Parts: sequence; C-alpha cells; structure tokens
Amino acid sequence: MQVIRLFDGVYRLDGRLATRNLVRGRSVYGERLVEHEGVEYRLWNPYRSKLASAIINGLSELGIKRGSKVLYLGAATGTTASHVSDIVGKEGIVCCVEIAERSMRELLKVCESRPNMLPVLQDARNVEAYADAVKEYDVIYQDIAARDQAEILSVNAALLKEGGFAYVAIKSQSIDVARRPELVYREFMASIEKRYDVLQTLPLVPFTKMHLFAALRKKREQGQAI
Ligand SMILES: C[S@@+](CC[C@H](N)C(=O)[O-])C[C@H]1O[C@@H](n2cnc3c(N)ncnc32)[C@H](O)[C@@H]1O
Repeated sequence: MQVIRLFDGVYRLDGRLATRNLVRGRSVYGERLVEHEGVEYRLWNPYRSKLASAIINGLSELGIKRGSKVLYLGAATGTTASHVSDIVGKEGIVCCVEIAERSMRELLKVCESRPNMLPVLQDARNVEAYADAVKEYDVIYQDIAARDQAEILSVNAALLKEGGFAYVAIKSQSIDVARRPELVYREFMASIEKRYDVLQTLPLVPFTKMHLFAALRKKREQGQAI
C-alpha cells in the first residue's frame, strides 16, 4: 500500500484520504479502518466532511496539528470533529460546540471514547458560556449553516490566539438564498476582515455544493509587535 503524508496526521492511502485512528478498533460513522505496518487509519469520506473535501481540493496549509487546541463550532454528531480529534492526538483538545440536543446525544457517544473531545451543548453566539473551557485556542473550525455565520465567527475570535487559524465552510443559501453566491461570499469576507486575513478560498464541488471553504488567520491587535 502506498502511504503519503499530506499534513500532520493526514494521509493518502492508495489515493484515499485517511487519519491515523486515535482509538484503535473503533470507527465513528461507518468509515473503514485500514491497518498498515502496525498503524491503524480511518478512511476520511469527503462526501461526509467539508474539511476532507477542502484537503482533496487543494487546501495548502492545515493549522490543525498534533497538540492543537481546536474550537469546533457546529460539531453535529462528530463526523469531522472525530478526524480532527485523530489529528490533534492525546495532547490536543477539540472543544465541540453544538446547539442541537439530538446531535449532541450522538456526539456524546463519540466523546466517551475520545478523551480529547469536549462536548458543549450551546449556541455558538453565547461565547461567554464556554469561554472558560480552554484558555486560548490555536484554531477555530466553523461549519454552521446560519444567516449570521460571519458574526458568530467574529465574536468567537475573542477565544483564538493572535495569528491562529480559522477554517470556515460558508453556505451561501443559508445566508441569503435570493442573492448570487459570489456576492454572499464577498460580503462575508468583508464583514470578517477586521479580525481575520483571508489565506485561501476553495470550492467544495463535487463533494458539497453551494459552499465556499475559507482558510483565515486572526490578525494581530493594532500596535502589537510582530
Ligand atoms: C452542517 S452541520 C455540521 C457538520 C459537521 N461539521 C461535520 O462535518 O461533521 C451544522 C451543525 O451546526 C449546528 N448549529 C447551527 N447553528 C448553531 C449555533 N448557533 N451554535 C452551535 N451549533 C449550531 C447544527 O445543529 C448542525 O449540527
């Protein structure tokens, strides 16, 4: 089998994306486990995960690394969050904020076997409610289909370290179904530019339609030494 390392903890196994399984023998959403030279990998389905599709579509830098503290907004049942948990490993943390109780019930089962995943049943607009969980995050990952998605990302910037990465899946139809997606994306970028620099934007087709994936970096406070 050909194993190519793409990023910290992210591999291509004979052309299929995978992460190194943190919890040996357990799959999370029915994904296949593959053993190679004593290492167990979980195949990462780009049709089920926007982060996987962004990597396949050419994401150039992944700020999520071994030991990273990640604030995950819109964790749902933990499909992508579990792969992020694989990448950050035992030394890292994935704080999983999810508003829906039904998704949270499933997410809790995933968190039970993954001690680096911290479930938070909360609206990601209420930053103060989970601000004390982790002092400062290295990365924010946001996949929330909400009209005020840009505002939610901006308020959560308070928990991100300066120079920290943010990855966001922007769903144009949830923000404004009547406007052209390019206009919606442009306005989104304009409304977050006070806090974030845009590093890269990517379409997610053919895996997910009507989304733009963006890699961002939190700006330094003005007057701060670089
Ligand atoms: C597209 S799904 C996320 C899928 C997930 N990121 C994955 O790849 O496995 C969006 C999730 O965001 C949650 N959500 C929507 N608005 C939210 C909010 N204000 N705060 C927290 N979660 C929210 C929804 O309940 C839903 O589970």
